Amino acid sequence: MCGIVGFIGSTNVKKTLLDGLKELEYRGYDSAGMAVMQSSKIDSFKAVGKLANLVAKTAPFEPKGFAVGIAHTRWATHGKPTEINAHPHQGRHSYIVHNGIIENYLPIKEELTKQGVGFLSQTDTEVIVHLYESFLTREQDAYRAFEQTIEAIEGAYAILLIDEGVQNTIFFAKKGSPLQIGDGDRGRFFASSDAPLIGICDNAIYLEDGSWGWATAETLSLFVGKTPMTAQKKPLPISQSSAQKEGFRFFMEKEIYEQSKVMSETLMSRVMASGVRLDELPEGFFDGVESLRLCACGTSYHAALAATYLFERLSRIEARAEIASEFHYRDPMLRNNELFIVISQSGETADTLEALKMAKRSGLKTLAICNVDNSSIVREADAALLTRAGIEKGVASTKAFATQTMVLWLLALFIAQKRGALDEEQMTAETNAARRSVKTLMVQPDRHEQIKRLSKRYLHGHGFFFIGRDLFYPLALEGALKLKEISYMHAEGYPAGEMKHGPIALADSKLFTIALMPHTLLREKMRSNVEELIARDTTLLAITSEHFAFADDVLQMDERSHPMLEFFEMMVAIQLLALEIAIRLGNDVDMPRNLAKSVTVE
Ligand code: M6R
Repeated sequence: MCGIVGFIGSTNVKKTLLDGLKELEYRGYDSAGMAVMQSSKIDSFKAVGKLANLVAKTAPFEPKGFAVGIAHTRWATHGKPTEINAHPHQGRHSYIVHNGIIENYLPIKEELTKQGVGFLSQTDTEVIVHLYESFLTREQDAYRAFEQTIEAIEGAYAILLIDEGVQNTIFFAKKGSPLQIGDGDRGRFFASSDAPLIGICDNAIYLEDGSWGWATAETLSLFVGKTPMTAQKKPLPISQSSAQKEGFRFFMEKEIYEQSKVMSETLMSRVMASGVRLDELPEGFFDGVESLRLCACGTSYHAALAATYLFERLSRIEARAEIASEFHYRDPMLRNNELFIVISQSGETADTLEALKMAKRSGLKTLAICNVDNSSIVREADAALLTRAGIEKGVASTKAFATQTMVLWLLALFIAQKRGALDEEQMTAETNAARRSVKTLMVQPDRHEQIKRLSKRYLHGHGFFFIGRDLFYPLALEGALKLKEISYMHAEGYPAGEMKHGPIALADSKLFTIALMPHTLLREKMRSNVEELIARDTTLLAITSEHFAFADDVLQMDERSHPMLEFFEMMVAIQLLALEIAIRLGNDVDMPRNLAKSVTVE
């Protein structure tokens, strides 16, 4: 989704901004732009499409010496992805970049229009820069005008603004969308996530909601409301190395192959011989907790849903999964003995963050399961368990899902321990299985080859059903989501037992059904559901360790010892299947159309 970079310094200003945008590219965008101020002159550039187009546009421009720059990648919300709608947006003498949504932009626009202000774009962002200039005309004080602007706008934002009348300075504000400030050897940097800062700054200031102020190379004025604040720095991760493709065709492919390695990290010092330790959780964290409510979006929601089966079966605690965007606005009934668990790869998903804030306001204890330390969700929650998957760049989430599911499984075992829900033998069987998952997640080259060959038979149907039961139903949902995200083909995940209650009407030879048929759970029931579909001539790919002669194709699995090991082995297979189908269709697997890696708008 939209990305922000800012820089105040003397060397390589243009390159620094472009390099920063490059680091944000994986998050998804449809246009990009930058504005650079030297003394009191601002040059601005915008381009639709890939960053290469902005690089070409800015080729003749080379700022010399000290400059102040702001830059942006835009993922369209208000108005089409055109050059006019790309950021920076400009007034008469100032330029702005913005992430988020200004909810009251229409009344502000109306008011400014009455004052004679002309608007170029269809965006909500453009009102901010004109509002600032309007306050400035009245106040004759840029700092006061910026403060009034921030007071007047509603919604979510991370903002950088530069003004030809206020040399060497970047104004900034943050509410609901992330914004960091880092100091490096070459100057002062701003970014909407860690990625552009890693390797050039050791520490960053993670601005809190409601923060605003202005910065020069030497000074930083920071406020929350009218109160001056002292900036708190936190260390940044030190290396970017995990974010290279390393010979794989796509980041998604690399990240599928990485799952086994990162799972060792996820497990490290958490799984003991006959139990689970979660040292990140404060002593007594589960005291008084009687039920769990899990809340997330997309793939993270599928991990949450899978976890409800684990919590109820292993920990014997009531658990319920919710889609964050639905939960937030339906005035839900909450009990104060519920633990509210949010799951997010990025830690910045607006729907999940808002649900978390709401749960906190209602007095619930909260826990984040997240891949990004220092993210908004981690900072907001009472406690956090990091999934340790490393940077995930493919828009289609893979290793994040695997590690989220593992952390949730470990949490289920941890709670089972506390509640005495499993005996020693059962607990040992679980922890042994958790350790063995590292091996199960390794991609077998032969199987990958088979999936590559198989993929060509699954290109031209009228749709896909992924079906499974129990734990394998959320996995079916995830398989369908992976496929539709990157292949753009219609796919649905369905509980296998529900097919006969309606969807079976679609069954014919052009309907592709991917059946997840584990050995360890509901084997016979699942078999009957699949046979009902075969009887209606659906084209069926069975993913199973069973002998199953009736399918059109079989992806033969090895695991038969534990449902979660079967889950992980099948998960790799469906990820590879989606990948190979999308590659055959010639799609940009890592940056699929219309999608953003981190969805920071509601
Ligand atoms: O960063 P989050 O885990 O909060 O993101 C939630 C969803 O936006 C995300 O899982 C999305 O569904 C992925 N593109 C799935 O591959």
